[in-house]
Amino acid sequence: MQDGSSPTIVAIDGPAGAGKSTIARLLAQRLGYTYIDTGAMYRAVALCSERQGISWDDPDGLERLTLSLDLEFEPDGERSRLLVNGEDVSEAIRTPQISRGASEVSRWPGVRCALVEQQQRMSAEQSVVMEGRDIGTVVFPQAQVKIFLTATPEERSRRRTAELSERGEEADPEQVLQEVLDRDRRDCEREHSPLRQAEDAMEVVTDGMSIDEVVEHLARLAEGRAKA
Ligand code: DC
Repeated sequence: MQDGSSPTIVAIDGPAGAGKSTIARLLAQRLGYTYIDTGAMYRAVALCSERQGISWDDPDGLERLTLSLDLEFEPDGERSRLLVNGEDVSEAIRTPQISRGASEVSRWPGVRCALVEQQQRMSAEQSVVMEGRDIGTVVFPQAQVKIFLTATPEERSRRRTAELSERGEEADPEQVLQEVLDRDRRDCEREHSPLRQAEDAMEVVTDGMSIDEVVEHLARLAEGRAKA
């Protein structure tokens, strides 16, 4: 919080693979705010529905499931871990299958409402850097700082391929690009809270920028806005 009265909200939205997670996490550290990865919450719903045999095409079942989940972010050094009903699912939610599932389950308004409510509660008493698809448009339209972080699909698929191979997973760059484009289409074309840039968001295209450069740029922007 800047003055002890109201928390500051930095909203970062953008498409898959734009570097939101890494950048939002580092920015939060730099500003001393809490980092919240809302994509991880949609991923948790996809993971639990798969485990419980609830179809990604079953909006009522998914809504009931979402309302039953206790989601909690726990700080772990420089990272944060996501606990679902006490179980650490941070690794299990990072597979290509669950990426696709998250994009499928996030179509349904019942799932979105339940998660948006939790996201708003998480930020009631602390300054946050929150990243996702609808933070500046739906979750916190009143956020003091709104960033739309993006990069070309080719650059985003290059980063995803590198990320997967760092984790020891074989990835075909062409297939990764196709998955990125499919996910863009689903996230942008869905009926409820599609991915779009808020009118008052600042667009940052990260092609050719290093992570440090982007963080530095956003920190200056956030510090300026939070004081205003
Ligand atoms: O940011 P991510 O790749 O972890 O997000 C996974 C999926 O969750 C993404 O394809 C769309 C969905 N999502 C969403 O609809 N709204 C958010 N605020 C965050 C993610």
